[in-house]
Amino acid sequence: MKRISLILFITIGFCACRLVAQEDIHKASIIIQADLGKYTISRHIYGHFSEHLGHCIYGGYWVGENSPIPNTRGIRKDVVNALKEIQIPNLRWPGGCFADEYHWKDGIGPRNLRPKMVNTHWGGVTEDNSFGTHEFMDLCEQLGTEPYICGNVGSGSVEEMSKWVEYLTFDGISPMADLRRQNGRDKAWKVQYWAVGNENWGCGGNMTPEFYSDQYKRYATFCRDYGENHLMKVAGGSNSADYNWTEILMQKIPSWQMWGISLHYYTTDWWNKGPATNFTEKQYFETLQRCLEIPKVIDRHMTIMDRYDPEKKVALVVDEWGTWFNVEPGTNPGFLFQQNTLRDAFVAGIHLNEFNKRCDRIKMANIAQTINVLQALIFTQDEKMLLTPTYHVFNLFKVHHDALLLPTSLTCDEYELEGKKLPALNVSASKDKNGLIHVTVVNIDPLNGFALKIDLRGVDAKDITGKILTAPEITAFNTFESPDAVKPAEFNKAGIGKDGISVPIPAKSIVVLEIK
Ligand code: AHR
Repeated sequence: MKRISLILFITIGFCACRLVAQEDIHKASIIIQADLGKYTISRHIYGHFSEHLGHCIYGGYWVGENSPIPNTRGIRKDVVNALKEIQIPNLRWPGGCFADEYHWKDGIGPRNLRPKMVNTHWGGVTEDNSFGTHEFMDLCEQLGTEPYICGNVGSGSVEEMSKWVEYLTFDGISPMADLRRQNGRDKAWKVQYWAVGNENWGCGGNMTPEFYSDQYKRYATFCRDYGENHLMKVAGGSNSADYNWTEILMQKIPSWQMWGISLHYYTTDWWNKGPATNFTEKQYFETLQRCLEIPKVIDRHMTIMDRYDPEKKVALVVDEWGTWFNVEPGTNPGFLFQQNTLRDAFVAGIHLNEFNKRCDRIKMANIAQTINVLQALIFTQDEKMLLTPTYHVFNLFKVHHDALLLPTSLTCDEYELEGKKLPALNVSASKDKNGLIHVTVVNIDPLNGFALKIDLRGVDAKDITGKILTAPEITAFNTFESPDAVKPAEFNKAGIGKDGISVPIPAKSIVVLEIK
């Protein structure tokens, strides 16, 4: 009996402590230097990536002209409207690994005559090439976004890539420009962003950095600028922490020959990816821990770049990033379809904040991938469309597009689990062309809110408003049956006082503040 009472006593005591912890408010402060902004946050940091993979292109964007799903020339209207809402600045296509086995001439001309191929990387399914160059460029025009095309180095040729550029961008009389006209497009398109291969250390040909650098220079030489069109060429960069790849490319490729060098960083444990939903707090902590490695990885690549290019002429282009979990049970493992929770929203918010803060070198980034694949913003199911928590982050953070980065310095308590600690808050700030200041704060601590003080230096704050993205659980996600389980709401709790700005940041939330 005595033993039972003791156990009861300990249990009640433990629960009481946990409750106290839940109500605990931690402290944090941010200094924002509102008059010391130097660098502009390129809107291209908010870019996208869509590959011929699973239901990203087919069913995601493309339903075909005869579909009962409302479309413009075969492209879904609901998806176009949703992406226009977040002001999608650029779209990377056709891959990914798919790019290095894609032969662009298979995707032009009458659709019924286009050859079919096997998509060997992604599920071994038949690719019928009904979505090709003209459809992609039409999609970009409907979205008002810039195309970012990835050419085939792995299994293509210099001639093939060079002719694709000519087909797209040459306005005079030439075999490729004439072919384009024959296929219904008179005017050349404008294409700026051009990747010379993808992951050429892996699926793009298993090359060494030395060999790839030489290949890059060969291919890049024959990707010409026609007329007013100027190609901004991106060399296929490193996998996460492969610093040697960056070192060799920077050493061997002159800065005049590349606009940027890419980097791919996925938030994943490759040996044990774990579920996208129903994860434990330990799995949550580990995901955020991996995500918070990104500043270190980027900084190390940037240090190497700085040595060869102190004037920062070469951009760092993080053209694949995001979470990678197990596919949803019962779905094709080659289609990489995963759900998207509040945890994904935090991963997105942290990446975007960290990219913003390094906008002197990072000029572009692309989340993998926009629809139905990996950390998607949008899910589609036949005629239905659903917005994920990650979509809402892109919508909330669009205030940073082309705004002036403001230096911030953050002090905050840590989020602790089983003796391990992570910085609980993550932040960036900018000033837009109308003088409005935006601060994006991510609080990953699932239990503790923060009493945040903002010391805004260099301007007088007159008014503050905000928006918040949160949910009752970190595992919360949207479904077609319950599409608004995680969605932004107005946030009116911030105040301006004599000693600065006070903001109660709730546990597990993203808060976006607008200061006038
Ligand atoms: O985004 C999925 C795949 O991940 C891409 O095709 C490839 O580049 C990367 O390994």
